[in-house]
Amino acid sequence: MSMISTSLSGPKSATSYCVPEFSGLRRLCPNNNTNNSHSPSFLRFTSPRKPLRRVLAMAGTGQFFVGGNWKCNGTKESITKLISDLNSAKMESDVDVVVAPPFIYIDQVKSSLTDRIEISAQNSWVSKGGAFTGEISVEQLKDIGCKWVILGHSERRHVIGEDNQFIGKKAGYALSQGVGVIACIGELLEEREAGKTFDVCYQQLKAYADAVPSWDNIVIAYEPVWAIGTGVVATPAQAQEVHVAVRDWLKNNVSAEVASKTRIIYGGSVNGGNCAELAKQKDIDGFLVGGASLKGPEFATIVNSVTSKKVAA
Ligand code: PGA
Repeated sequence: MSMISTSLSGPKSATSYCVPEFSGLRRLCPNNNTNNSHSPSFLRFTSPRKPLRRVLAMAGTGQFFVGGNWKCNGTKESITKLISDLNSAKMESDVDVVVAPPFIYIDQVKSSLTDRIEISAQNSWVSKGGAFTGEISVEQLKDIGCKWVILGHSERRHVIGEDNQFIGKKAGYALSQGVGVIACIGELLEEREAGKTFDVCYQQLKAYADAVPSWDNIVIAYEPVWAIGTGVVATPAQAQEVHVAVRDWLKNNVSAEVASKTRIIYGGSVNGGNCAELAKQKDIDGFLVGGASLKGPEFATIVNSVTSKKVAA
C-alpha cells in the first residue's frame, strides 16, 4: 500500500494556524479551563452535572454530520437489506445522518427508510429542468423528498469532467431551491506531491463562494482523491491540517461566522476501524463515507464515532 506524504508545502502552511474560535466541536482551553461560564455560546458543555466527563456541542447550528454515498451500487434486493440494517441500527441522536442512493432507488429508500435518516442525491442539474436528456433536476429531487445533494465529488470532477465553475453553479442552483449541498473538494495525489493541496482546495472553494447565495445549507466534504476508494485513508493529522486551512479560507474570504458554523467533514476510505481517531480531530465535523456506507452496522459505527468527541476533563 502506498504511503502518502504528510507534508504540505503550499504557499501558506496551515500547520501553525491557531483555530479555537473557529472550531466546530472542541475545547476552548483544553488543558486548564474547567469552568466554561466564559466560553462562547457555541462551545457549551452539555453534561454540566458530570464534571469529569463532558460532551461539547458543535459550533453554530451544526452537529456531527455523516453521509453515506452509495455511488452506482446496489440492486432492489441489496438495498432492501441495507435499509433493514439501517432501520434497526442504533445511532446516536446528536448526529445528522444522510444517505445518497442511486437516483432510481431514491423512491424505494424514501418509502422504507426511517425518517431519522435524510436522503441526498448524488448529483443534480445545473438549472431548472427541461430538455436535458439524462439529467435529474433539483425540482425533481425535491419532489421525491431529497433534502441534500452531493456536488463536486471527485468522480464527477475527474471521471465525468465537471469543472469548478460548473460545480459552483450547480451548488448555487440547488441552494436557491432549498436543497442542501454536500460540497466536495480535494486534491489529486500528484497535486499533493507537488505541494498544491491548499491551492487546489482554495480554488474549488472559491468557485463555490462565487456562486452560492449563502453558506447556511452547505456542508464541505474534504475528500483527498488519493484516499477515495483506495483503502489509503488520510491520517488524522493530514485531514486536520486541511480542515483547518479550509476554515481559515472561509474566515478570510467569506466571514468569521461562516467559518465558525460550517461543518467540514472528511471523506476517503473512512471505515469502522479508523473513524474514531479521525473524529477526535478538532476540525473534523463528520464524514462522507463510500464503501463502508454499504454495510449498515459499519455505517452505524461511523455515525456513532461522534462519541469520541466526548472528552474527559
Ligand atoms: P470511500 O468513498 O469511503 O469508498 O473511499 C468516499 C467518497 O467517495 O465519498
